[in-house]
This record gives sequence, structure tokens and C-alpha cells, in this order.
Amino acid sequence: MTGNASKTTASFIQISDDDKGYPLDQFCIPKHYEEDLERVLIPEGLINDRTERLARDIVADFGNEPIVVLCVLKGGYKFFTDLVDKIKVLNRNSGHSVQLGIDFIRLKSYVNESSSGKIEVIGGDNLENLKGKNVLIVEDIIDTGRTMQQLLELMTSVQPKCVKVASLLLKRTPASVGYIPNYIGFEVPNLFLVGYALDYNEFFRDLSHICVINSTGKEKYSVKQ
Ligand code: IMP
Repeated sequence: MTGNASKTTASFIQISDDDKGYPLDQFCIPKHYEEDLERVLIPEGLINDRTERLARDIVADFGNEPIVVLCVLKGGYKFFTDLVDKIKVLNRNSGHSVQLGIDFIRLKSYVNESSSGKIEVIGGDNLENLKGKNVLIVEDIIDTGRTMQQLLELMTSVQPKCVKVASLLLKRTPASVGYIPNYIGFEVPNLFLVGYALDYNEFFRDLSHICVINSTGKEKYSVKQ
């Protein structure tokens, strides 16, 4: 089902709270994670098809203006690479093209299932390089929205020409601060998701599909605080 987020024209595929997803035994799951997952929520093939459409929307919106695509590591890396690849295909095959620069930033805020509250920039180039540029921030998931709010505040200080945000996932959560990105792949239930580079304490990044972690997985890979 397709929905529209309030306060924005961004459209997305909405995955409802009672969505059953797909049984694990109908997909290829690495043996080492078989006991740690409840179900597949979004297969990689569907992510790919949705990303192709987001790439088309982005190229249409930016016209002939060059953009710097800023990848939020580590969780955003799969979506970032696939999105950039799809923009490159459009650039090769259509009448107009968008020149791409790429940059990376590494943030950390989560331990186990909860945000530590304050984001920490723990890597990446000097953000000053983004001054006067059109910046497209690429993130894996917006949960409460606090991380993105803080990153956007940080961006203001470097005075880019414009900043837009593409997030593969937007979580439906009562803890949301109301932040909604410009481009959204899927709106998802308030569950902890792993795979396609989304991690739980650095595990599950090597899982292709987006899956719901189960209690065994949470316990096995938890970090004592
Ligand atoms: P926010 O600040 O609450 O919006 O959290 C955003 C960040 O939390 C994301 O960039 C992820 O790193 C992490 N995160 C939030 N929810 C999940 C999830 O379900 N799985 C994996 N990481 C998540």
C-alpha cells in the first residue's frame, strides 16, 4: 500500500503493523543467523526495485544541478551504493544527467535497541567541503528522528546550497520527533530491524534482506552496559 506522509509530499510504501512478512525458510538466510530472526520483512529484491524509483525521483528533482551524496555510515552504506548505482544508470541513459560527488560521515548513537540520545560524529571528511553544494544525505532508517535533526543542525553551520535527505526506512513510532525525510523507501512498524546493512550491535550487516530480529538474536548479541 502506498501512503503519504504529513508535512511533506514524500510518498512511500507502507508496511502495516499486522504485516506477516515472509517465512525465513522461503528465502536464503545465512546459517549463522537462522535462529536469531523472526521473519523477512522486506526482501532485497523489493528494496532494489523501490530504490530504482527513488533514484528516478531524485534525478527529476535535482534537474541538471550537481549533487554531493553524503552516506551516513555504517548503516546507510548498502542503500547508498545501490542508490548511487541506479542514479549512474539514469545518467548514462537519459537526456539529462546529474553530476555526483560522494562523501561519507560516520555517526554513532545506538547501543542494543535504544539510542544513547546524543549523536557522535566518529569519522568522515571535513564537512566544510560541503559549503555551497547541493547535498543529499543518505541514511538507512529514521526512528525517533533525533539523529537526523542533529545532523541537519550540524549541516547548517557549513552552509550548503541545499540539503535533502533520503532514508530507506521511516519507523512509525510514538517516540518520533516528527521529522520526515524528503525521500522515503518504506514506512515500517515500530520493530527492531536488521539486515541490508542495518545492525544490532554490529551484527546482521551481512544479511541481505531486512528482517525482524527475535528474542534469541537480541539476547545472543546484546552488549552489557
Ligand atoms: P533515531 O535518531 O532514533 O532516528 O535513530 C536513527 C539511527 O538509529 C539509525 O541511523 C540507525 O543507526 C539506528 N536505528 C534505529 N532503529 C533501528 C533499527 O530498527 N535497526 C537498526 N538500527 C536502527
